[in-house]
Amino acid sequence: MSQTLTIRRVAGALGAELSGVDLSQHLPDETIAAIRQALVEHQVIFFRDQDLTPAQQVAFGARFGPLNIHPYVTGMAGQPEVMEIIKEPTDKINFGGGWHSDMSFLETPAIGSILYALELPEYGGDTLFASQAAAYDALSEGLKRTLEGLNAVHSAAREYSSSGHSAQKRGGMQVAEADGYVGEYVHPMVLTHPETGRKALYVNPAFTIRIEGWKSTESKALLEYLYQHCRYEGFTCRFAWARGSVAFWDNRSVWHFALNDYPGQRRHMRRVTVDPWPVMAGRARVAAE
Ligand code: SIN
Repeated sequence: MSQTLTIRRVAGALGAELSGVDLSQHLPDETIAAIRQALVEHQVIFFRDQDLTPAQQVAFGARFGPLNIHPYVTGMAGQPEVMEIIKEPTDKINFGGGWHSDMSFLETPAIGSILYALELPEYGGDTLFASQAAAYDALSEGLKRTLEGLNAVHSAAREYSSSGHSAQKRGGMQVAEADGYVGEYVHPMVLTHPETGRKALYVNPAFTIRIEGWKSTESKALLEYLYQHCRYEGFTCRFAWARGSVAFWDNRSVWHFALNDYPGQRRHMRRVTVDPWPVMAGRARVAAE
């Protein structure tokens, strides 16, 4: 059955809410194409009042590409592509509680993530999004030219090691500790979106560890400058979840940040993550410098 999509922008830099579509259904190809067009244009899109089983979320996600099985977070039993993102009332830290782009630590990072809300705290627990395309656009032509030729090295080691943020103990999630060598992958610091041709910065504080070929002090200085720039409020939007809300973001041009401002309360989400098209492939695994 054909469904009529309505699109309402929610902020200047990125973000749009889509209505008139039931994601639990097998949607016609043209509706999927319209959702995909909205995603790449608005970078993050939101849906309200959905009712999705894990299998329906998988079926919807699979219309956009192969689904990722997270290397460090155990998926649902029988549905390993579905990651349950849970913060129990006793947990101190949350998953995704810092600016990042999903899976940039892989050779071929995820292109999109689809997050569905099942249980929310009474207040708090919003997610922030920041447009890295807007961040790129706002740079000087001189810095843009400098960055065009640069690559950055990404790794899961810092976040998922036993001392890292993501691997710290949580009641409701099984997160493996990536101790030992987990691989380092090189990606361009400026990514040209394969569908829109728009450029975006592609470094993030969670997984980017250095600029290829630069001393660590030099890397740190430029990366810290970029991180300050990239999270400027004018590049962001903020999503207040309700049960049944869905956010679908494009990791090629968006950072996100799950706020941890609801101590003592439970938050339960389910995520499927869409794997890349070959154009996103990073270069060969690089040796530690
Ligand atoms: C994530 O995918 O990083 C989690 C986002 C969230 O829970 O809001």
